[in-house]
Amino acid sequence: MKKPIVVGVVGCGYWGPNLVRNFKSLPNCHLKAMCDLSETRLKHMRSLYPDVEGVTDFGHLLNGVDLDAVVVAAPVRHHFSLAKASLLAGKHTLIEKPMASSSAECEELIDIAESKGLVLMVGHTFLYSAPVRKIVEIVQAGDIGEIRYINSRRLNLGLFQKDINVAWDLAPHDISIILHILEEFPLVVNCQGNAHVTQGIEDVTNISLTFGHKRFATIQSSWLEPRKVREMTIVGTRRMIVYDDLETHEKIRIYDARVERPPHHDTFAEFHYSYHYGDIYIPHLKQEEPLKVECQHFIDCIEKGTTPLTCGRKGLELVKILEAASASLKDQGAPVTFSRPRELPAWEPRPTRSLEPAFA
Ligand SMILES: NC(=O)c1ccc[n+]([C@@H]2O[C@H](COP(=O)([O-])OP(=O)(O)OC[C@H]3O[C@@H](n4cnc5c(N)ncnc54)[C@H](O)[C@@H]3O)[C@@H](O)[C@H]2O)c1
Repeated sequence: MKKPIVVGVVGCGYWGPNLVRNFKSLPNCHLKAMCDLSETRLKHMRSLYPDVEGVTDFGHLLNGVDLDAVVVAAPVRHHFSLAKASLLAGKHTLIEKPMASSSAECEELIDIAESKGLVLMVGHTFLYSAPVRKIVEIVQAGDIGEIRYINSRRLNLGLFQKDINVAWDLAPHDISIILHILEEFPLVVNCQGNAHVTQGIEDVTNISLTFGHKRFATIQSSWLEPRKVREMTIVGTRRMIVYDDLETHEKIRIYDARVERPPHHDTFAEFHYSYHYGDIYIPHLKQEEPLKVECQHFIDCIEKGTTPLTCGRKGLELVKILEAASASLKDQGAPVTFSRPRELPAWEPRPTRSLEPAFA
């Protein structure tokens, strides 16, 4: 029998317990320790998992427990220092989203992981979910035609964060899904928003991403909405997909809907758009917890020595977009432009500011 991968989780606040529960449930994994600065949190976690060691000292987690891997689920401002220490101690590392507070920090973590031959993964959880995997399958099969645009809304009342704005808190989910569907890095990022409750921390933001081939995506994020909304629309030339993550079973609906211009007309009276309203198809989705699939993938990558789907480089790409969004936000929504990748056609947005693309 193979030796299980020994894992420890640091950060047992709101999200960390979900990681603890999932790693605890995996067959080829041994969740050995949990770490939190708060004794109160640890006491609660020990009551749920009495056989898992609870420690307040992260140094002890790294050097005194004999772990193969560490999972970082602390607030974003601590991701870099905790993940760097973990990698330097020779531990495979899974960091929650977003990977770190800056692209420079992400690059340093990638370098350390590569030089030490360690698995570095980022918790872009939605890429492991059945609906997103199904959407990617449908798009790649060409069923919806060419994608024209994607519109995403992630809204609710709270949970207010103290160290990051709503774009850094909620938009990583939408951005990771959009990049995965389009398989492309944006050329331009715009972001507008406002801080209504805590000075300097925007609680409402609108990001727009411009891609090549006239494609774009818009992402609305808010902690100030009365209703919880988790909705994404993917508009293709042949069909359209509506993904509502709050639906229990029917999370994806494929609309056989499109509009076409008549090929030619002689008079204005003859000109009619042709609207096509076809069937709505609801594909069957496997019922599984995305976080469990993500945790299993981390363990599999460690065992097989393979690169995760959401590796450090994917984390870096996402942080580059968030940085660009922050720069645009400070400049009242002015476009922040990335250099154009070579394979795209000659299409030049008007640059106001330049950042290096993540994949240069
Ligand atoms: N993938 C997802 O869907 C998802 C959902 C929610 C949160 N998250 C991410 O999870 C991370 C944690 O978010 P949260 O909402 O649980 O935060 P939280 O503030 O509720 O919990 C963080 C915990 O980390 C502990 N902590 C802080 N610094 C520490 C240190 N140096 N050593 C040990 N413990 C430390 C705190 O005491 C706290 O208990 C964030 O990166 C967040 O973006 C991901």
